[in-house]
Amino acid sequence: MKTAEIAQRYLDYFEKNGHTIVPSASLVSDDPSILFTIAGMVPFIPYLTGVVPPPYPRAADVQKCIRTNDIEEVGKTARHGTFFQMLGNWSFGDYFKEGAITYAWELLTNVERDGGLGFAERDLWVTVYDDDDEAAALWKRIAGLPDERIQRMGKDDNYWSTGQPGPAGPCSEIYFDRGPAYGQDGGPAVDDNRFTEIWNLVFMQDLIADVASKTDFRIVGELPQKNIDTGMGLERVAFITQGVENMYETDQVRPVLDRAVELSGRRYGAVHEDDVRFRVIADHVRSSLMLLSDGVTPSNEGRGYILRRLMRRSIRSMRLLGVDGPTFPELFTASRDAMSAAYPVVETDWARISQYAYAEEETFLRTLAAGSTILDVAVAQAKDAGTPTISGPDAFLLHDTYGFPVDLTLEVAEEAGLTVDRAAFDTLMQEQKARAKADAKSRRRTIADLSVYREFRAAGETVFTGYSDLETESRILGILVDGVPTERATQGQIAEVILAETALYAESGGQVADRGTIVGPGFELEVLDVQRPVPGLVSHTVEVSQGEVGTGQAATTVVDAVNRRAAQQAHSATHLVHAALRDTLGRTATQAGSLNRAGYLRFDFSWGSALSPETRTEIEEIANNAVRDNLAVATRLLPLTEARELGAMAMFGEKYPELVRMVDIGGPWSRELCGGTHVGTSAEIGVISIVGESSVSAGARRVEALVGADAFRELAAERAIVSELSASLKTPRDQLTARVADLAASLKAAERRIAAFEARALEERVPTLAASAVRAGAFTVVADELAGASSADDVRTIALRVRDRLGDEPGVVALGAVAGERPVVVVVTNEAARERGARAGALAKVAASVLGGGGGGRDDVAQGGGTDAASLPAALTAIRTALETAAS
Ligand code: ALA
Repeated sequence: MKTAEIAQRYLDYFEKNGHTIVPSASLVSDDPSILFTIAGMVPFIPYLTGVVPPPYPRAADVQKCIRTNDIEEVGKTARHGTFFQMLGNWSFGDYFKEGAITYAWELLTNVERDGGLGFAERDLWVTVYDDDDEAAALWKRIAGLPDERIQRMGKDDNYWSTGQPGPAGPCSEIYFDRGPAYGQDGGPAVDDNRFTEIWNLVFMQDLIADVASKTDFRIVGELPQKNIDTGMGLERVAFITQGVENMYETDQVRPVLDRAVELSGRRYGAVHEDDVRFRVIADHVRSSLMLLSDGVTPSNEGRGYILRRLMRRSIRSMRLLGVDGPTFPELFTASRDAMSAAYPVVETDWARISQYAYAEEETFLRTLAAGSTILDVAVAQAKDAGTPTISGPDAFLLHDTYGFPVDLTLEVAEEAGLTVDRAAFDTLMQEQKARAKADAKSRRRTIADLSVYREFRAAGETVFTGYSDLETESRILGILVDGVPTERATQGQIAEVILAETALYAESGGQVADRGTIVGPGFELEVLDVQRPVPGLVSHTVEVSQGEVGTGQAATTVVDAVNRRAAQQAHSATHLVHAALRDTLGRTATQAGSLNRAGYLRFDFSWGSALSPETRTEIEEIANNAVRDNLAVATRLLPLTEARELGAMAMFGEKYPELVRMVDIGGPWSRELCGGTHVGTSAEIGVISIVGESSVSAGARRVEALVGADAFRELAAERAIVSELSASLKTPRDQLTARVADLAASLKAAERRIAAFEARALEERVPTLAASAVRAGAFTVVADELAGASSADDVRTIALRVRDRLGDEPGVVALGAVAGERPVVVVVTNEAARERGARAGALAKVAASVLGGGGGGRDDVAQGGGTDAASLPAALTAIRTALETAAS
């Protein structure tokens, strides 16, 4: 069963049982202390704690997750992946233990024909929390499991939390027995490799605090309702049902591993160290692809650093497999192709993703190259001096200045028969760490350095005046340069500025930051970005365009009004599109993300299938009618509970404060919790034009629209295109569609005729080619170029036809052509030739090595290719020579 099919069966099963299907949230968690979504429950926390009312009593999803705490285990075990997908079913105060166990058992053990996953009951074991007699009894009754296959475990294994204060509870895990070949008998309590956990059912009922470790925390209360949070490891179920050894060999991961094998020319399954490297590469490339697709970019801090580390570890592993050149163009493409069915965004966003990936690899390869030269010098010096050791300071310099990993230094030294003074190196590393700690404030900002902002925040909240004012006079409370508080910033410097009040909108809720300036006596600052690094505090990133600014000075924030107005139009339009979507599709079409900037909006929502053109038009019409109706926009602050009772829509995965801002457009029709800025009445929006509808991931769709003047310009441009087409095709507008369809049909027919002609022309060359046969050793050989062939298939057809004409003598045909700019050689042999030892596969490899590529195939038909089209004649000659020598 393919990975995607397992996921689909899971969702179908739970949908059939009354669950709403919810799309995966981003890998990037909005909680800075977690960094990434580490489990399916992270985005549901507000529903689990009851802070936000869940829009559905039960849900099911496939959540993308990243965990890097076990990075060293990757590739060594069967199941440690940094990226993985967690299948979950959720109950918010609806069913509890009995329902969760019944569903899990039924889905696992139902036969495939009935939509189940087809596990044999005898292979499954379960664990329950120490004193959870209720769960044990349920497993006995529902699944009929004997006592010895229901094991009890303590907090360490069977009490689940995120490791942070929040919702938690006892859990029950389901294990699959891989059989005696994988370890000893006795169940998961004895061996968690042979018995692999596949599904965790959490009975979420507690609120915990003071979490020091997995087993050291305090239960501080009960949740307002009893919930179910489950997590099934999609990759684990995939490797078990696909009958492969580990998660790296499943259909979504294996293609990358195979590509790495091809590039390295080594075998998978031959040497243990190499196998681990192949698996590390397959895992890390996929994780990097998914992180890039969720907007993380490589950097030296926080999330970006983890991404960088994953990419560098794969490059390094490729090097250890003997490949020094760039490999990401091959590896990332393979991963994209394996993941795009489940996550189309990796395809649609490919230009951006590949740009970051390739650039990161180039930079790191340059680093390695620069370090290599210095290392070579160090090696030569050590040898000249007659010492067998590279000094600690040299190794440290390489690491510190050139970013050259120490394990690489160790390896190169070893190859040269030298050692590295590791003790001296470690001492220098320790010293540097101590310096860095003492000097933390002067280092670049990391997540931990949020403390600087917290200090400012402690002095008071930044007042946002921009709902009503576009200019506000205030005072500069703080200036940061490179994250460090300072007194002044001068012309040309980039700095962060904190004020008591600001009219500038900080990016949030999908609305981008305002543009504008901050001016004061003797200075002008251009605003580059406005963010809220910690709740309640606004920080303006600015470039000092004139003069010098200092703390304590008076300053006025000035919003770029034209840009703000356009952003407001887009944001209010987003609310209208959301309401229109729910009118058309129903209330489960909830928001999953949005972006609005001047002239443009993007809105992601939970929905399983593409919208028909009619539905799209209907949504567009409802939204534009709301614009024309000139609906009033009203905002007010109220307690969250009250907003909830009024039916305000909240964003999935978002945490809200007790006092929330509610935005109504046309009364309750569009009612959302939102901190953004909006138009006064809906008519100010002008026009909304939906320009795209696409898939983001399983269960999530995206609409994109242009708004206001941009929408108008888009429509005008389309009108111009239609006019031009109408003129050039001499066809009235209303008949254009039919006319273009006719043209396309006749073009297709013409193409078919041309292809038939070409095939015939190639066919006519068969007798001439057969007649051109020459002797090469014991063989009759035709080795020639086949001009005019446009694909390898064409070449193969003609090669086979020529072979048919060679008679019973040992005959070999090798034809070369350039198909789509890449050279290809097809080799075919007849039976007599094979008896004399000619092998098409081996001959294709000979040609491919000349063409700078790979090749192979069966003994009778094979093909090779490469990149160097100019070498085609040489490749054909090489085949002739090989045959001559074979006979001699
Ligand atoms: N939240 C549970 C886990 O991640 C299901 O294992």
